[in-house]
Amino acid sequence: MKIVVIAIDGPAGAGKGTLARRLAEHFGYAHLDTGSLYRAVALRVLRDGADPTHEATAAHEATRLTEDDLRDPALRHEATGLAASKVSAIPAVRQALLEFQRNFARRPPRDAMGAVIEGRDIGTVVWPQADHKIFLDAAVEVRAKRRVAELRTMLKEIDEAAVLRDLIQRDRQDRERSTAPLKPAADAFLLDTSNLDIEGAFAVAKAHILGRSGPAA
Ligand code: DC
Repeated sequence: MKIVVIAIDGPAGAGKGTLARRLAEHFGYAHLDTGSLYRAVALRVLRDGADPTHEATAAHEATRLTEDDLRDPALRHEATGLAASKVSAIPAVRQALLEFQRNFARRPPRDAMGAVIEGRDIGTVVWPQADHKIFLDAAVEVRAKRRVAELRTMLKEIDEAAVLRDLIQRDRQDRERSTAPLKPAADAFLLDTSNLDIEGAFAVAKAHILGRSGPAA
């Protein structure tokens, strides 16, 4: 049987994680958050006391990831996200993580018949032959608001201006890097969630996958 691959790409805070998990659950597919791979490399580099732009350290750490690294709660910290954006611009880091991602698409775990893989370059570089490609986006102010709401559940004091500033910086780093920059694949379905909640985004994405939707929303 053919494995179905759904690629979900887009900038930080667009809602890729929530949508990818919902779709994976709905279709019974495996889910891979590729951002956590880059975050795990970044965390290792930071714990080495090195700068995330240090190529040799980051490339070395990218070959040493373990399952435990991917469960570390510090992966979700803002500082880890910013550092991940930096290590992800290093070609040797991307190369080291490529095979793991492709193997997930070829043979999803637990004999699942499909995989939902989210990131920045899944539809363009990791798995251009994906059966469905969704590029999820939203206005940066909307993404910042969602991130602030998420942080409020964990922290008391949040610097909202800093959240917006970090997102703008991360967008720039991810879009402007020369290796595998963030951009929609030519054949991606563009889904702007600025005016959609989780249920709305899920409904549009599901309809698109089932071949019932019209042109890009
Ligand atoms: O999706 P995220 O915020 O967890 O990703 C963290 C960083 O990792 C992001 O700023 C860019 C990088 N990344 C990437 O370059 N390619 C991917 N496929 C996934 C993430």
